[in-house]
Amino acid sequence: MKTNSDTQAGGGPALASQPRISHLLSSLAPSATLAVDARAKKLRAEGVDVIGFGAGEPDFPTPDGPVAAAREACSDPMSHHYTPAAGIGTLREAIADKARSDTGIDVKASQVVVTNGAKHAIFNTFAALCDPGDEVLICSPYWTTYPESANLAGGVPVTVNTSEESGFRVSVEQLAAARTPRTKLLVFVSPSNPTGAVYPREEMEAIGRWAADAGIWALTDEIYGHLVYPPTEHYSLPVLVPDLRDRCVVVNGVSKTYAMTGWRVGWMIAPEDVARAAANFQSQTTSNVSNVAQIAALSALRESQSSVAAMRAEMDRRRRRMYEMLQAIPGVTCVEPKGAFYAFPSVKALLGRNVGGELVKTTSQLAEVALEKAKVAVVPGEAFGAPGHLRLSYAMAFDQMIEGVNRLGDLLATAH
Ligand SMILES: Cc1ncc(COP(=O)(O)O)c(C=O)c1O
Repeated sequence: MKTNSDTQAGGGPALASQPRISHLLSSLAPSATLAVDARAKKLRAEGVDVIGFGAGEPDFPTPDGPVAAAREACSDPMSHHYTPAAGIGTLREAIADKARSDTGIDVKASQVVVTNGAKHAIFNTFAALCDPGDEVLICSPYWTTYPESANLAGGVPVTVNTSEESGFRVSVEQLAAARTPRTKLLVFVSPSNPTGAVYPREEMEAIGRWAADAGIWALTDEIYGHLVYPPTEHYSLPVLVPDLRDRCVVVNGVSKTYAMTGWRVGWMIAPEDVARAAANFQSQTTSNVSNVAQIAALSALRESQSSVAAMRAEMDRRRRRMYEMLQAIPGVTCVEPKGAFYAFPSVKALLGRNVGGELVKTTSQLAEVALEKAKVAVVPGEAFGAPGHLRLSYAMAFDQMIEGVNRLGDLLATAH
């Protein structure tokens, strides 16, 4: 750190020539998914009958238990104060217990850091692990935050492309080909946003084995782990590959599982040195997550399992119908989503054609035309590093979903 004595009066570059916004933040892309959702909501507020497929959150209310716990906490002066930066002790215990009962993994509360949503846990992980120039393997189609967040933390995102042919799942051969001496970390996500892909046990095991043997860290994002539809099953990377545990960070939270996106409670489960580094970082940046929200999350983990099952069953019903409807649209192909609440159809066969009276060359243009002509908001694949696709969330009322896919189908039927 410089002190006053290091600076000379009148010296240094003229302030006027310095950019107002830092290079780092001015090059940061805004979240395309939030933008699409916000645009649909704005149009709806103006009275336009828009059906929005952009939502990245369950349309269910938070279960009663966490809401009641939060209400009570608000009246308790004990919860009006700071908590430890890494989170309330009982919540960290409950997270460790839940990980144990869900997957059988043995973790201690001291390995858990409670964060402002899983998004924050992801940034903490990059910040804790990446030195400038360290490479982070990210498979496309990817959730838009991964590369931006890695970049912010000084890492260099390296994209590994997957396609419909492999069900949007990466292979060990692809990862090995993308690896360099600077590769530090692999971002692994199952189920995936935006594709809904879920890795079968053997493939996940092979990837974990490869990372362990190569000495590469893994960030495994399990935020949709409870939204996997039978007969598909969810597995946890460090459970399948115990040799990876010393270099593995599990990211999760209450956002999707308990319909608690707005409460902002996520967590990372990491080796103790990484957890300590992240807690330390948090102590200097955000301090603790809202005390009341942590108490709500504690209640959700302990008492709200039946609501998870009910939500999963309804999401599954929508998933099956949306997949069936998308498949039936001429020019559209879709890999069956097995988890999360998104479908990621390909519309490549329709690009370069006239749709709704407009020449459409890219999925970004198609999304514009869909909003303008069919009053349907979808997120273009460009946002996920996968042009040629659209992401449609089915976290919405069943009838609305059917109406929206019908509108999209009618629009696409005009292609010539
Ligand atoms: C794959 C994935 N990971 C993490 C998150 C972030 O979740 P949270 O709302 O808890 O920050 C999202 C949210 O959309 C997501 O899709």
